[in-house]
Amino acid sequence: MSGAGGLHIAIIMDGNGRWAQRRGMPRSAGHIQGVKAVRRIVEACAHAGIRTLTLYAFSSDNWHRPGPEVESLLKLLRCYLSTETRRCRRHSIRINVIGRRDRLPGGLVSAIEDSERLTAGCSRMRLRIAVDYSSKHSIVEAARRAPRGGLSAQGFQDLLAQVDHSLPECGPVDLLIRTGGEQRLSDFLLWDCAYAELYFTGHLWPDFGESELREALAEFSRRQRRFGRLLAETA
Ligand code: FPP
Repeated sequence: MSGAGGLHIAIIMDGNGRWAQRRGMPRSAGHIQGVKAVRRIVEACAHAGIRTLTLYAFSSDNWHRPGPEVESLLKLLRCYLSTETRRCRRHSIRINVIGRRDRLPGGLVSAIEDSERLTAGCSRMRLRIAVDYSSKHSIVEAARRAPRGGLSAQGFQDLLAQVDHSLPECGPVDLLIRTGGEQRLSDFLLWDCAYAELYFTGHLWPDFGESELREALAEFSRRQRRFGRLLAETA
């Protein structure tokens, strides 16, 4: 996957429920399959030289799903952290869970803290997992903490990273991928995606693998990023 080095990729992993329902299975089976896709993609991104990968695992609005589905998602996250931390450390992948922590079960918060501590020295790739994450909430909270005199855009970005438990600040998203056919941002990384290239695919998340990632990166490499300027100025 040439040309992917140094990028920040963010993924809205949609379609687990439909994947399971199409097979007559409970939605939780789709989430279990979704975790397998997470493992594949984390490995593929590290291999491709991606700098930061941010995955939307549980949005603040997901609390409104039925209790058993919420419980199974939180359990899967905890399980993922306890089984994958060692592997991430081996591959020098730094784990960082972004979002609110005040509403998460104590056991999950401890697992998050352990994973972050144990991988803090890893530098090959940063894996950010968004849990109880709402971009609008983060922005409002950062604005509330901002000094009276105001802040520069960079200062505000640093404050957002502090609110999101995501220090050191890791920079804007280059490519945002959403699987599952929907074409919206769903309150994910609104500030960080200001100049992200958006890529929507009909593949359901459990079916998303290395070749689908390669397709997304190939499409990204064909995009002209101008950041509001004329093409000659960005070269
Ligand atoms: C959206 O699919 C997916 C989620 C709400 C959860 C994503 C979680 C995982 C992939 C597993 C846990 C993650 C990690 C990082 C270990 P959906 O259920 O809304 O699917 P649907 O649109 O087909 O109903």
